[in-house]
Amino acid sequence: MSVRLDPLTGVLQGAAVKESRRTLAGLTGYFRDEAARAAMDQDRLAYRVQAYEPKPEGERGAVCCATTFLEPGTVGDEYFLTRGHFHVNEDCSELEVTVSGTGLLVLMTAARRTWTEPMRAGSVHHVPPGTAHRVANTGDAPLVFVSYWPSETGHDYGTIVERGFGARVRRIDGQPAIVPEPD
Ligand SMILES: [Fe+2]
Repeated sequence: MSVRLDPLTGVLQGAAVKESRRTLAGLTGYFRDEAARAAMDQDRLAYRVQAYEPKPEGERGAVCCATTFLEPGTVGDEYFLTRGHFHVNEDCSELEVTVSGTGLLVLMTAARRTWTEPMRAGSVHHVPPGTAHRVANTGDAPLVFVSYWPSETGHDYGTIVERGFGARVRRIDGQPAIVPEPD
């Protein structure tokens, strides 16, 4: 069994790699302007993920990795984004390594303190324990990044569905802006 990560494109290949896709239909409720999202082509691809997980989610004993290919675009004035999550095991941290494209990594503590880090080719980002994370593509090309996390991490998407992040990445006067969002 072998897995190959193409360092130039981020493409993960191998029998153990699983790919998933998320369309705009699968991002219902995640954008500020839900009416704008609902008016768009629901089959339009927002992102796809190629994941290599040597152990099942939640089970100890491995490091997992995945490449995310996040398409460029906006819903209303908000850039395309990944859903984002907290880790169920709050001790687990994560690394993001950007392959290509430009965007922002959005980070948030449990107390909703929210900040961002700029992503560009070669940038490496550490997601501290207990910190929710999502990515927004602020460029014109796909934003490609590789994530690494321990297999026992577990993923909590529900808290983000209920409360969102403390800020949104919006295009204002043609430029990315980080706009605080009420709870
Ligand atoms: Fe994560």
